Amino acid sequence: MSEALAGYGLVKKYGSATALAGVDVAVRARESLAIMGPSGSGKSTLLHVLAGVIRPDEGRVMLGEERIDRLGENRLSALRRDRFGFVFQSGQLLPELPAEENVALPLMLSGSRRREAVIRARRWFGPLGLDGLERRRPGQLSGGQAQRVAIARALVVEPDVVFADEPTGALDQATGEEVIRLLTTVTGSLGAALVMVTHDAGVAAHCDRIVQVRDGLIAGRRQSAVAPTRNGAAS
Ligand SMILES: Nc1ncnc2c1ncn2[C@@H]1O[C@H](COP(=O)(O)OP(=O)(O)O)[C@@H](O)[C@H]1O
Ligand SMILES: [Mg+2]
Repeated sequence: MSEALAGYGLVKKYGSATALAGVDVAVRARESLAIMGPSGSGKSTLLHVLAGVIRPDEGRVMLGEERIDRLGENRLSALRRDRFGFVFQSGQLLPELPAEENVALPLMLSGSRRREAVIRARRWFGPLGLDGLERRRPGQLSGGQAQRVAIARALVVEPDVVFADEPTGALDQATGEEVIRLLTTVTGSLGAALVMVTHDAGVAAHCDRIVQVRDGLIAGRRQSAVAPTRNGAAS
């Protein structure tokens, strides 16, 4: 099976600081990859370089067969909008919009009309355990519910790759693990790849593979100890 997304020889410097010192990393469709490592090791930079948010100084980023790190700004932002989904530490939902309209927003930004976008958005509420919360505003949701709405928003465009930077950072352990369980299973069933930065080994264990980043380099790679079986036999 070929890679959905890969980075080769990635280098990124900020002045004299080297955030990425030559990183190779790849993730396949339906596969989840956790990026772990101490604060300041380069995890977020790696995620942003893979997601076309930051351009690497050296190396290349391949989305399937297409090299994306040299695309022009317009092509790159269209690609981020249509083929990538993003989940942040705390949802970054728009507080004045009901949950279903928050989820519908990426579709509307891609040109769908509000009505169709909301209908498509609503389909994600069931799989994410959010039935009945469609009209709630973010302030009327728990932290875990809000983060599941953010996941629905990331998935609604049916992206090839979902990126998540510390998606459980604002949640307690049990809520965080439930959110990750949903994120990994729903992303996998969509056929997308998942790239997730986390400090939390319990969270990373829900991913198929884990890479450890130290000082801008990959210091270790392993299969997850308690890997879910999305790619293999049913659990
Ligand atoms: N925009 C920036 N400007 C200057 N230095 C940065 C910037 N972003 C990250 N860095 C530096 O790059 C290194 C890696 O940062 P980051 O990727 O955010 O690490 P992590 O996500 O693992 O905490 C750190 O030394 C950080 O200070
Ligand atoms: Mg970070």
